[in-house]
Amino acid sequence: MQSELRTKLLKAFSEADGEFISGQKISELIGCSRTAVWKHVEELRKDGYELEAVRRQGYRITKKPDKVSENEIQLGLKTKMMGRYIHFEQIVGSTQKIAQSLATEGAVEGTIVVADQQTSGRGRMSRSWYSPSGTGIWMSMIIRPNIPIHSTPQLTLLTAVAVVQAIEEETKLKPDIKWPNDILINGKKVVGILTELQAEADQVHSVIIGTGINVNQKLEEFPEELQNIATSIQIETGIIWERALLIQTMLLKFEKLYLLYLTQGFKPIKLLWESYAISLNKEIVARTLNGSFQGKAIGINDQGVLLIELSDGSIKEIYSADIDA
Ligand code: BTN
Repeated sequence: MQSELRTKLLKAFSEADGEFISGQKISELIGCSRTAVWKHVEELRKDGYELEAVRRQGYRITKKPDKVSENEIQLGLKTKMMGRYIHFEQIVGSTQKIAQSLATEGAVEGTIVVADQQTSGRGRMSRSWYSPSGTGIWMSMIIRPNIPIHSTPQLTLLTAVAVVQAIEEETKLKPDIKWPNDILINGKKVVGILTELQAEADQVHSVIIGTGINVNQKLEEFPEELQNIATSIQIETGIIWERALLIQTMLLKFEKLYLLYLTQGFKPIKLLWESYAISLNKEIVARTLNGSFQGKAIGINDQGVLLIELSDGSIKEIYSADIDA
Protein backbone atom coordinates (compact mmCIF):
# COMPACT_ATOMS: atom_id res chain seq x y z
CA MET A 1 0.00 0.00 0.00
CA GLN A 2 1.27 3.46 -0.92
CA SER A 3 1.29 6.25 1.69
CA GLU A 4 -1.52 8.78 1.52
CA LEU A 5 1.01 11.57 1.04
CA ARG A 6 2.56 9.92 -1.97
CA THR A 7 -0.89 9.31 -3.46
CA LYS A 8 -1.67 13.03 -3.05
CA LEU A 9 1.68 13.99 -4.57
CA LEU A 10 1.19 11.73 -7.60
CA LYS A 11 -2.37 13.03 -7.99
CA ALA A 12 -1.08 16.62 -7.99
CA PHE A 13 1.48 15.75 -10.70
CA SER A 14 -1.14 13.86 -12.67
CA GLU A 15 -3.48 16.88 -12.58
CA ALA A 16 -0.63 19.20 -13.61
CA ASP A 17 -0.39 17.05 -16.75
CA GLY A 18 3.34 17.50 -17.37
CA GLU A 19 3.44 21.19 -16.36
CA PHE A 20 5.53 22.52 -13.46
CA ILE A 21 4.07 22.77 -9.96
CA SER A 22 5.86 24.96 -7.46
CA GLY A 23 7.24 23.44 -4.27
CA GLN A 24 5.05 25.88 -2.35
CA LYS A 25 1.90 24.71 -4.16
CA ILE A 26 2.79 21.07 -3.57
CA SER A 27 3.41 21.66 0.12
CA GLU A 28 -0.02 23.33 0.39
CA LEU A 29 -1.77 20.61 -1.60
CA ILE A 30 -0.36 17.73 0.36
CA GLY A 31 -0.07 19.53 3.66
CA CYS A 32 3.63 19.17 4.49
CA SER A 33 6.78 21.30 4.62
CA ARG A 34 8.92 22.22 1.57
CA THR A 35 11.66 19.96 2.93
CA ALA A 36 9.22 17.05 3.10
CA VAL A 37 8.19 17.75 -0.50
CA TRP A 38 11.82 17.54 -1.58
CA LYS A 39 12.20 14.22 0.30
CA HIS A 40 9.13 12.77 -1.44
CA VAL A 41 10.43 13.90 -4.81
CA GLU A 42 13.69 12.07 -4.07
CA GLU A 43 11.69 8.96 -3.14
CA LEU A 44 9.89 9.14 -6.48
CA ARG A 45 13.25 9.36 -8.27
CA LYS A 46 14.43 6.24 -6.45
CA ASP A 47 11.32 4.47 -7.75
CA GLY A 48 12.18 5.26 -11.35
CA TYR A 49 10.31 8.52 -11.93
CA GLU A 50 12.23 11.20 -13.79
CA LEU A 51 11.55 14.70 -12.48
CA GLU A 52 12.79 18.05 -13.64
CA ALA A 53 13.38 20.67 -10.95
CA VAL A 54 13.70 24.29 -12.06
CA ARG A 55 14.26 27.22 -9.70
CA ARG A 56 11.20 29.43 -9.26
CA GLN A 57 9.09 27.06 -11.40
CA GLY A 58 9.04 23.93 -9.28
CA TYR A 59 8.89 20.31 -10.30
CA ARG A 60 7.42 18.31 -13.12
CA ILE A 61 7.41 14.63 -13.98
CA THR A 62 9.09 13.97 -17.32
CA LYS A 63 8.93 10.17 -17.28
CA LYS A 64 7.00 7.63 -15.25
CA PRO A 65 8.38 4.16 -14.61
CA ASP A 66 6.52 1.35 -16.34
CA LYS A 67 5.16 0.09 -13.09
CA VAL A 68 1.76 -1.31 -12.33
CA SER A 69 0.27 -0.79 -8.91
CA GLU A 70 -3.08 0.19 -7.49
CA ASN A 71 -2.14 3.89 -7.53
CA GLU A 72 -0.56 3.87 -10.95
CA ILE A 73 -3.81 2.47 -12.36
CA GLN A 74 -6.10 4.68 -10.31
CA LEU A 75 -4.47 8.01 -11.08
CA GLY A 76 -5.90 9.26 -14.33
CA LEU A 77 -8.53 6.49 -14.61
CA LYS A 78 -11.57 8.00 -16.32
CA THR A 79 -14.12 5.20 -15.80
CA LYS A 80 -17.20 5.31 -13.58
CA MET A 81 -17.35 1.63 -12.73
CA MET A 82 -14.52 -0.44 -14.23
CA GLY A 83 -11.45 -0.53 -12.00
CA ARG A 84 -12.99 1.56 -9.25
CA TYR A 85 -11.97 -1.26 -6.94
CA ILE A 86 -8.47 -2.57 -7.69
CA HIS A 87 -6.88 -5.62 -6.15
CA PHE A 88 -3.18 -5.51 -7.02
CA GLU A 89 -0.53 -8.06 -6.11
CA GLN A 90 3.05 -8.28 -7.25
CA ILE A 91 3.10 -12.07 -7.77
CA VAL A 92 0.11 -14.40 -7.92
CA GLY A 93 -0.64 -17.86 -9.26
CA SER A 94 -3.44 -16.64 -11.49
CA THR A 95 -5.47 -13.42 -11.34
CA GLN A 96 -8.46 -15.51 -12.51
CA LYS A 97 -8.37 -17.55 -9.33
CA ILE A 98 -8.22 -14.50 -7.10
CA ALA A 99 -11.03 -12.81 -9.05
CA GLN A 100 -13.15 -15.93 -8.63
CA SER A 101 -12.74 -15.89 -4.85
CA LEU A 102 -13.46 -12.16 -4.71
CA ALA A 103 -16.57 -12.64 -6.87
CA THR A 104 -17.81 -15.41 -4.56
CA GLU A 105 -17.26 -13.10 -1.60
CA GLY A 106 -19.48 -10.49 -3.30
CA ALA A 107 -16.97 -8.15 -5.00
CA VAL A 108 -18.67 -5.23 -6.74
CA GLU A 109 -19.09 -5.16 -10.50
CA GLY A 110 -16.07 -3.57 -12.15
CA THR A 111 -13.58 -4.95 -9.62
CA ILE A 112 -10.26 -5.76 -11.26
CA VAL A 113 -7.41 -8.01 -10.17
CA VAL A 114 -4.01 -7.11 -11.56
CA ALA A 115 -0.63 -8.74 -10.97
CA ASP A 116 2.86 -7.88 -12.12
CA GLN A 117 3.65 -11.58 -12.53
CA GLN A 118 1.69 -14.84 -12.63
CA THR A 119 3.30 -18.15 -11.78
CA SER A 120 0.42 -20.32 -13.09
CA GLY A 121 -1.23 -18.07 -15.66
CA ARG A 122 -4.14 -19.91 -17.28
CA GLY A 123 -4.92 -19.94 -20.99
CA ARG A 124 -7.84 -21.27 -23.01
CA MET A 125 -8.39 -24.98 -23.49
CA SER A 126 -6.48 -25.86 -20.28
CA ARG A 127 -3.24 -24.34 -21.53
CA SER A 128 -0.87 -22.20 -19.50
CA TRP A 129 -0.20 -18.51 -20.15
CA TYR A 130 3.35 -17.19 -19.97
CA SER A 131 3.21 -14.22 -17.56
CA PRO A 132 6.69 -12.94 -16.56
CA SER A 133 7.22 -9.96 -14.27
CA GLY A 134 7.60 -6.34 -15.34
CA THR A 135 6.45 -6.69 -18.92
CA GLY A 136 2.80 -7.61 -19.40
CA ILE A 137 -0.73 -6.85 -18.34
CA TRP A 138 -2.20 -9.74 -16.40
CA MET A 139 -5.67 -8.66 -15.37
CA SER A 140 -9.05 -10.18 -14.52
CA MET A 141 -12.25 -8.12 -14.47
CA ILE A 142 -15.41 -9.04 -12.57
CA ILE A 143 -18.74 -8.10 -14.10
CA ARG A 144 -22.27 -9.10 -13.20
CA PRO A 145 -24.50 -8.75 -16.26
CA ASN A 146 -28.10 -9.87 -16.10
CA ILE A 147 -27.91 -12.15 -19.17
CA PRO A 148 -28.54 -15.84 -19.84
CA ILE A 149 -25.55 -18.20 -19.84
CA HIS A 150 -25.76 -18.81 -23.60
CA SER A 151 -25.12 -15.11 -24.26
CA THR A 152 -21.86 -14.93 -22.32
CA PRO A 153 -19.56 -15.66 -25.32
CA GLN A 154 -20.64 -12.21 -26.52
CA LEU A 155 -18.67 -10.69 -23.66
CA THR A 156 -15.47 -12.33 -24.86
CA LEU A 157 -15.95 -10.72 -28.26
CA LEU A 158 -16.78 -7.39 -26.61
CA THR A 159 -13.55 -7.58 -24.62
CA ALA A 160 -11.54 -8.32 -27.75
CA VAL A 161 -12.96 -5.17 -29.36
CA ALA A 162 -12.13 -3.10 -26.24
CA VAL A 163 -8.52 -4.32 -26.21
CA VAL A 164 -8.06 -3.69 -29.93
CA GLN A 165 -9.48 -0.18 -29.59
CA ALA A 166 -7.18 0.56 -26.63
CA ILE A 167 -4.06 -0.70 -28.44
CA GLU A 168 -5.03 1.26 -31.56
CA GLU A 169 -5.62 4.46 -29.65
CA GLU A 170 -2.42 4.36 -27.63
CA THR A 171 0.06 2.83 -30.06
CA LYS A 172 -1.48 3.40 -33.52
CA LEU A 173 -0.92 -0.30 -34.30
CA LYS A 174 -3.76 -2.05 -36.14
CA PRO A 175 -4.38 -5.41 -34.45
CA ASP A 176 -6.66 -8.09 -35.92
CA ILE A 177 -9.00 -10.42 -34.08
CA LYS A 178 -8.94 -14.15 -34.79
CA TRP A 179 -12.15 -15.77 -33.57
CA PRO A 180 -13.06 -15.84 -30.81
CA ASN A 181 -10.55 -13.77 -28.91
CA ASP A 182 -6.98 -14.00 -30.08
CA ILE A 183 -5.59 -10.60 -30.92
CA LEU A 184 -2.82 -10.65 -33.48
CA ILE A 185 -0.35 -8.14 -34.84
CA ASN A 186 1.38 -9.14 -38.07
CA GLY A 187 -0.01 -12.65 -37.61
CA LYS A 188 1.45 -13.14 -34.12
CA LYS A 189 -0.50 -13.30 -30.88
CA VAL A 190 -0.22 -10.25 -28.65
CA VAL A 191 -3.30 -10.71 -26.43
CA GLY A 192 -5.25 -13.66 -25.06
CA ILE A 193 -8.65 -13.50 -23.38
CA LEU A 194 -10.14 -16.11 -21.07
CA THR A 195 -13.76 -15.83 -19.95
CA GLU A 196 -15.01 -17.87 -17.02
CA LEU A 197 -18.44 -17.97 -15.43
CA GLN A 198 -20.00 -18.31 -12.05
CA ALA A 199 -23.59 -19.37 -12.71
CA GLU A 200 -26.43 -21.43 -11.33
CA ALA A 201 -29.26 -22.88 -13.41
CA ASP A 202 -29.49 -20.20 -16.11
CA GLN A 203 -28.59 -17.34 -13.78
CA VAL A 204 -25.19 -15.69 -14.28
CA HIS A 205 -23.72 -14.56 -10.95
CA SER A 206 -20.50 -13.20 -12.31
CA VAL A 207 -18.32 -13.27 -15.38
CA ILE A 208 -14.57 -13.19 -14.88
CA ILE A 209 -12.79 -11.91 -17.94
CA GLY A 210 -9.03 -12.47 -17.91
CA THR A 211 -6.85 -10.53 -20.30
CA GLY A 212 -3.17 -11.18 -20.94
CA ILE A 213 -1.44 -8.47 -22.99
CA ASN A 214 2.20 -8.83 -24.04
CA VAL A 215 3.41 -5.25 -23.67
CA ASN A 216 7.15 -4.83 -23.16
CA GLN A 217 8.72 -8.26 -23.76
CA LYS A 218 11.64 -8.45 -26.16
CA LEU A 219 11.57 -11.33 -28.65
CA GLU A 220 14.39 -13.23 -26.95
CA GLU A 221 12.56 -13.02 -23.63
CA PHE A 222 9.78 -15.30 -24.88
CA PRO A 223 10.35 -19.04 -24.43
CA GLU A 224 11.67 -20.53 -27.68
CA GLU A 225 8.43 -22.34 -28.48
CA LEU A 226 6.55 -19.02 -28.44
CA GLN A 227 9.03 -16.91 -30.41
CA ASN A 228 7.43 -17.71 -33.79
CA ILE A 229 3.84 -17.28 -32.68
CA ALA A 230 3.88 -14.53 -30.05
CA THR A 231 4.74 -10.86 -30.12
CA SER A 232 4.55 -7.82 -27.85
CA ILE A 233 3.61 -4.20 -28.39
CA GLN A 234 7.23 -3.20 -27.79
CA ILE A 235 8.48 -5.65 -30.47
CA GLU A 236 6.01 -4.18 -32.95
CA THR A 237 6.69 -0.51 -32.17
CA GLY A 238 10.23 -0.43 -30.75
CA ILE A 239 8.91 1.62 -27.82
CA ILE A 240 8.47 0.74 -24.15
CA TRP A 241 4.85 1.34 -23.14
CA GLU A 242 3.36 2.33 -19.80
CA ARG A 243 1.26 -0.63 -18.77
CA ALA A 244 -0.87 1.40 -16.35
CA LEU A 245 -1.90 3.76 -19.15
CA LEU A 246 -2.88 0.86 -21.40
CA ILE A 247 -4.94 -0.63 -18.56
CA GLN A 248 -6.73 2.70 -18.06
CA THR A 249 -7.54 3.04 -21.74
CA MET A 250 -8.65 -0.59 -21.98
CA LEU A 251 -10.97 -0.19 -18.96
CA LEU A 252 -12.52 2.95 -20.44
CA LYS A 253 -13.11 1.29 -23.83
CA PHE A 254 -14.53 -1.79 -22.11
CA GLU A 255 -16.89 0.28 -19.95
CA LYS A 256 -18.23 2.21 -22.97
CA LEU A 257 -18.84 -0.98 -24.97
CA TYR A 258 -20.35 -2.78 -21.99
CA LEU A 259 -22.86 0.05 -21.42
CA LEU A 260 -23.68 0.01 -25.13
CA TYR A 261 -24.19 -3.75 -24.89
CA LEU A 262 -26.45 -3.50 -21.83
CA THR A 263 -28.61 -0.83 -23.45
CA GLN A 264 -28.60 -1.87 -27.14
CA GLY A 265 -27.71 -5.53 -27.10
CA PHE A 266 -25.04 -7.42 -29.04
CA LYS A 267 -25.75 -5.99 -32.52
CA PRO A 268 -23.47 -2.90 -32.38
CA ILE A 269 -20.72 -4.97 -30.73
CA LYS A 270 -21.03 -7.66 -33.41
CA LEU A 271 -20.56 -5.05 -36.15
CA LEU A 272 -17.44 -3.68 -34.47
CA TRP A 273 -16.05 -7.16 -33.88
CA GLU A 274 -16.59 -8.09 -37.55
CA SER A 275 -14.71 -4.99 -38.65
CA TYR A 276 -11.57 -6.30 -36.88
CA ALA A 277 -12.00 -10.02 -37.62
CA ILE A 278 -9.61 -11.76 -39.99
CA SER A 279 -11.01 -15.27 -40.05
CA LEU A 280 -14.35 -14.50 -41.70
CA ASN A 281 -15.21 -15.67 -45.25
CA LYS A 282 -12.11 -17.85 -45.32
CA GLU A 283 -11.50 -21.60 -45.44
CA ILE A 284 -10.51 -22.56 -41.93
CA VAL A 285 -9.97 -25.58 -39.74
CA ALA A 286 -11.51 -25.40 -36.26
CA ARG A 287 -9.79 -27.74 -33.83
CA THR A 288 -12.21 -28.38 -30.97
CA LEU A 289 -12.01 -30.77 -28.04
CA ASN A 290 -14.52 -32.94 -30.00
CA GLY A 291 -12.52 -33.11 -33.23
CA SER A 292 -11.59 -30.88 -36.16
CA PHE A 293 -13.99 -29.25 -38.62
CA GLN A 294 -12.97 -27.81 -41.96
CA GLY A 295 -15.06 -25.33 -43.90
CA LYS A 296 -15.76 -21.71 -44.64
CA ALA A 297 -16.16 -19.35 -41.68
CA ILE A 298 -19.35 -17.60 -42.69
CA GLY A 299 -19.80 -15.41 -39.63
CA ILE A 300 -20.84 -15.35 -36.02
CA ASN A 301 -24.41 -15.71 -34.84
CA ASP A 302 -26.21 -13.43 -32.41
CA GLN A 303 -24.69 -15.31 -29.49
CA GLY A 304 -21.14 -14.78 -30.76
CA VAL A 305 -20.78 -18.42 -31.80
CA LEU A 306 -18.72 -19.09 -34.95
CA LEU A 307 -20.59 -20.60 -37.91
CA ILE A 308 -18.72 -22.84 -40.36
CA GLU A 309 -20.20 -24.06 -43.62
CA LEU A 310 -18.98 -27.63 -44.04
CA SER A 311 -18.40 -29.26 -47.45
CA ASP A 312 -21.84 -30.94 -47.34
CA GLY A 313 -23.44 -27.49 -47.01
CA SER A 314 -24.45 -27.94 -43.37
CA ILE A 315 -23.67 -25.26 -40.83
CA LYS A 316 -21.63 -26.20 -37.79
CA GLU A 317 -21.75 -24.02 -34.66
CA ILE A 318 -18.36 -23.75 -32.98
CA TYR A 319 -18.32 -22.70 -29.32
CA SER A 320 -14.65 -23.16 -28.51
CA ALA A 321 -11.75 -24.03 -30.79
CA ASP A 322 -8.35 -23.19 -32.12
CA ILE A 323 -8.57 -21.82 -35.62
CA ASP A 324 -6.09 -22.48 -38.41
CA ALA A 325 -6.71 -20.12 -41.28
C1 BTN B 1 -5.60 -17.59 -24.13
O1 BTN B 1 -5.29 -18.77 -24.00
O2 BTN B 1 -5.51 -17.03 -25.22
C2 BTN B 1 -6.14 -16.81 -22.95
C3 BTN B 1 -5.06 -16.28 -22.07
C4 BTN B 1 -5.58 -15.47 -20.88
C5 BTN B 1 -4.47 -15.02 -19.97
C6 BTN B 1 -4.97 -14.11 -18.89
S1 BTN B 1 -3.66 -13.30 -18.04
C7 BTN B 1 -4.77 -12.72 -16.83
C8 BTN B 1 -5.74 -13.85 -16.56
N1 BTN B 1 -5.21 -14.74 -15.55
C9 BTN B 1 -4.97 -15.95 -16.04
O3 BTN B 1 -4.49 -16.90 -15.38
N2 BTN B 1 -5.28 -16.01 -17.34
C10 BTN B 1 -5.81 -14.74 -17.81
